[in-house]
Amino acid sequence: MPGTVVVGTQWGDEGKGKLTDLLSKEMQMVVRYQGGHNAGHTIVVDGETYILQLIPSGILYDHITPVIGNGVVVHPGVMIREMDKLEAKGIDCSRLRVSGNAHLVMPYHEEIDALTERRLGKNKLGTTKSGIGPTYADKANRIGLRVQDLLDAKIFRQKLDVVLKEKNNVLAKLFNRLPKQIDEIADLYLDEYLPRLRPLISDTVNLVHDALDEGQNVLFEGAQATYLDLDHGTYPFVTSSNPVAGGACVGAGIGPRDIDRVVGIAKGYVTRVGSGPFPTELLGEEADQLIEWAEEYGAVTGRRRRVGWFDAVMMRHAVRLNSLTELAVGKIDKLDQFATIKVCVAYEIDGRRVDRLPYHQSELHRAVPIYEELPGWQCDLSGAFEPHHLPPEAHGFLDLLKQQCGVPIKMVAVGKARDQFVYLGD
Ligand code: IMP
Ligand code: MG
Repeated sequence: MPGTVVVGTQWGDEGKGKLTDLLSKEMQMVVRYQGGHNAGHTIVVDGETYILQLIPSGILYDHITPVIGNGVVVHPGVMIREMDKLEAKGIDCSRLRVSGNAHLVMPYHEEIDALTERRLGKNKLGTTKSGIGPTYADKANRIGLRVQDLLDAKIFRQKLDVVLKEKNNVLAKLFNRLPKQIDEIADLYLDEYLPRLRPLISDTVNLVHDALDEGQNVLFEGAQATYLDLDHGTYPFVTSSNPVAGGACVGAGIGPRDIDRVVGIAKGYVTRVGSGPFPTELLGEEADQLIEWAEEYGAVTGRRRRVGWFDAVMMRHAVRLNSLTELAVGKIDKLDQFATIKVCVAYEIDGRRVDRLPYHQSELHRAVPIYEELPGWQCDLSGAFEPHHLPPEAHGFLDLLKQQCGVPIKMVAVGKARDQFVYLGD
């Protein structure tokens, strides 16, 4: 089973870091295919918490080659900081490889991201302000700088000179900001960042294909999630890349036939950070309760997440968009204390029952969830590691999800630590 994709099926923070880490045991290579340091993947190993933004989770295993694919946008400063932190904990980062075709996040991208959000005021997207959108926009506009441009100082400066003229115009005229100096940026990227990056820059497409040809197991690690996808998410409240499984083809340079297995990850409920529609969102006391029990604050930004019940309508669509072969359900221990657990099985829109995700987003804004209510298990699941350790109510909940979504559920996470999961089998 050489090519496996892991993809978030909701709005992110489903626990992909932990799942990727679990699957890593059987992998020889882990490839990130989109996004950048807007991600925050939390992995707990031997009581030590690692929060990885840019470096693939596979870095935590010695036997794995972690790869940052061409579809990722790379902030070299963040990457170096992350390598330093890992190396301080004894993790060897010399195995890391980064695609020469990946685009660079530049200082003006971060600044324009933050300034645009401020200008939008109450209409803001709620981005992570890490410059992701502006970097992908420049890529599409064909004025981006790529990792490989660092290898030729003359070319790097030439391209930077052209693009800075435009960016400084935008910064000055639209945002009343001081211009950026070419020397300052060139010195930072060429003198400070390049020496650390140079040994890692690679032709990652051939690296991945050679591994697949040798029969190695390669994991393609998605960041963000299906409903943050630029094409399939709740636009414009999305990220600027394609987290869906198909994004792995473009962002790593493989074909659809190189993928044999697509593992979706969902929480037993739903969370979202930032703005946009959210049919099953809880408000008031119910929300406060779940946020408190589930500790729903952003891993990197610390932002309070929006929370709601599991939405099987969105999940059925996510199964299609990603051609999921299986689902893993994360964080069900967070529901331990609820007397009643709800699962949205359909919507009511303008008096009609609707089983499919409406393509017209204003209908999604008007969608009222139709819930099935289940008794909660009201006990501590965190010590469970065999299916029979789960109480009947938890099995009932998982059976309903399986029946609603039409894919097998092979794994359930019951805590943050590496060994806190239950394998439900094939
Ligand atoms: P951006 O990716 O920083 O442009 O943010 C766009 C939207 O995606 C915002 O709603 C963010 O909160 C959301 N987002 C980006 N990355 C993540 C993530 O890793 N987890 C959850 N939400 C994210
Ligand atoms: Mg996260």
